[in-house]
Amino acid sequence: MQHSIAIIGCGNLGLSIANGLIKTPGFDVSSLTLTKRKTESLSPLKKLGVAISSDNLAAAESADIIILAVKPFNLTEVLEEIKPAIGGKKQTIVSVATGVKIQQISGILGDDIPIFRAMPNIAADINESVTCICGINASEATEAAVKEIFNSIGLSITINEDLMEAATVLGACGIAYVLRFMRAMIQGGIQIGFDAKTASDIVNQTVKGAAEMMIQQPIHPEAAIDKVTTPKGCTIVGLNEMEHHGFSAAMVKGVIASFEKITL
Ligand SMILES: NC(=O)c1ccc[n+]([C@@H]2O[C@H](COP(=O)([O-])OP(=O)(O)OC[C@H]3O[C@@H](n4cnc5c(N)ncnc54)[C@H](OP(=O)(O)O)[C@@H]3O)[C@@H](O)[C@H]2O)c1
Repeated sequence: MQHSIAIIGCGNLGLSIANGLIKTPGFDVSSLTLTKRKTESLSPLKKLGVAISSDNLAAAESADIIILAVKPFNLTEVLEEIKPAIGGKKQTIVSVATGVKIQQISGILGDDIPIFRAMPNIAADINESVTCICGINASEATEAAVKEIFNSIGLSITINEDLMEAATVLGACGIAYVLRFMRAMIQGGIQIGFDAKTASDIVNQTVKGAAEMMIQQPIHPEAAIDKVTTPKGCTIVGLNEMEHHGFSAAMVKGVIASFEKITL
């Protein structure tokens, strides 16, 4: 990866992206600049050779690709701050801010700037994010460079901008849904006899195995469930009990509630 990258607003998500990039084989850490206003929390990365700063404008000036990872309500002020650095060199802007449209960003930075929205999740930290991406004004080479960044921290999927909010729910909120499911399964495991550590180890590997199976052998989940459910057996009894209590309905309603929170 040859491009210099600035991550502006390096909090939870920005730091996960930075950690994933740093772990990517062949990634040149000296090409990375991270900013936030209070930089103390980023000092461990300084020792690795990453540039740390609270100067967004200087970071934007020095980068080819600028990843904006501030909260949506901080984005306008940051865009105004870095605007003097954008345009001449035609840096590429990548915003991960939830719900902020490309048009809002181009309205501040200009209509001819390559601007992407990307929606990763915090598994970027271990190079296992899924990142949905859309963009405008980019050459093939620029788009390839942006995808290379997000492919190095997981899997990137190009989508239309009108699906970006849905991508936020399924991919970014989705990791929290799965973690809540795991917590519930661990609690069940403790009630039937395991200590918390052993229950977590069993659940973690079971969820990893299920996900890997779906990735490597992409069949419908229900077809795999059929292989586990012996007629009159304990698995189908447990699954049906969960459905009687609204398991699938609760998940679908939660996904829709998150979506409505972003879009309405
Ligand atoms: N967390 C996720 O899983 C996730 C997933 C997908 C998308 N997103 C999106 O990603 C963005 C970041 O979310 P987050 O959860 O990482 O938030 P966060 O932890 O609050 O990180 C944002 C960071 O921005 C810094 N910041 C605020 N104003 C700044 C400024 N003017 N200049 C430089 N840095 C500034 C803050 O640090 P200082 O106070 O030290 O400046 C803070 O650490 C949001 O837009 C969110 O919608 C998050």
